Amino acid sequence: MVAFQFPAVVSQCDTEFPGPGAGRDQTMVVLSTIDRPGTDAPDATALWRAGGLVQVWWATWPQDLAAPAGWYRLLDASERARCQRLARAQDRGQYVMAHALLRLALSSLAGGPAEQWRFRASEHGRPEVAEPAQAADIRFSLSHTRGLVACAVGAGVQVGVDVEAVEDGPGIHEASELFLAPTEREDCQALPSAQRTGRLYEYWTLKEAFAKALGLGLHLPLHSAAFELDPPGGPRVRCDHPAGEGWRFDLAAPTSEHRMATAVRAPDGKDVTVMYRRHEVPA
Ligand SMILES: CC(C)(COP(=O)(O)OP(=O)(O)OC[C@H]1O[C@@H](n2cnc3c(N)ncnc32)[C@H](O)[C@@H]1OP(=O)(O)O)[C@@H](O)C(=O)NCCC(=O)NCCS
Repeated sequence: MVAFQFPAVVSQCDTEFPGPGAGRDQTMVVLSTIDRPGTDAPDATALWRAGGLVQVWWATWPQDLAAPAGWYRLLDASERARCQRLARAQDRGQYVMAHALLRLALSSLAGGPAEQWRFRASEHGRPEVAEPAQAADIRFSLSHTRGLVACAVGAGVQVGVDVEAVEDGPGIHEASELFLAPTEREDCQALPSAQRTGRLYEYWTLKEAFAKALGLGLHLPLHSAAFELDPPGGPRVRCDHPAGEGWRFDLAAPTSEHRMATAVRAPDGKDVTVMYRRHEVPA
């Protein structure tokens, strides 16, 4: 079997956040940054082998564009069946983009063809690597929303990623009654209305990334995790969950219309480098 390769034009840029407080690159506004050691370009392979690397791959594309056919062919039978059950073409496109991007990221880091990966669900529905068996310590998380997909991959660490398209409407404000903790609600209410919607999505993506990294999905009551967005070193969570300590979070605006949050926890509080890779889908 031949490993699927990105055509040269697709891999648009590699982005690594240069450290806390650094704010911008051409493609992404970093709202907060996970601490990481050093500022030199790291050797991704060495970091990966040492269990000190999380890569977050993300891609944007026009919503009316179908996912490239070559990406669909990377999916296994159960992914294709799930995809075909989705009623809307745009949901099928998102699904293919997210699951193919995940396979490409996994193979880029762990080797082997992108078609080789098989997955199973944990007790609470978190997808995990089933095959190849020697890759069982790899953790990943994926997320899809209108016009953007992302996946986070790490070995021996807990990871969660969430992306959302920022849409101002009654829906998000009504839902916020359910997912905001009291301190977060006060923070949002103190903001001018023009900034409030973006802030709601920042809290939402952080909570979803955290819930996914814990593997709990909706089994974590989202209002039970209270985030502070601005302390030094990035967002912090207060939470009663026994695994609520030792997390580090990233918050970013990959486009002006999207928010993305990443949650990472390494055993023993070890340093983890988080690298972001953007892929552009050719029109
Ligand atoms: C499934 C859930 C984990 C994330 O859903 P979401 O943010 O709507 O959708 P995303 O695209 O970001 O993430 C979906 C992916 O999460 C992953 N996922 C599902 N269950 C998971 C779990 N228990 N743990 C970790 N990841 C999980 C899957 O890979 C899924 O993608 P797939 O179905 O294509 O395989 C869950 O938290 C959920 O349904 N949340 C929606 C809740 C909501 O409406 N919140 C608004 C405020 S109340």
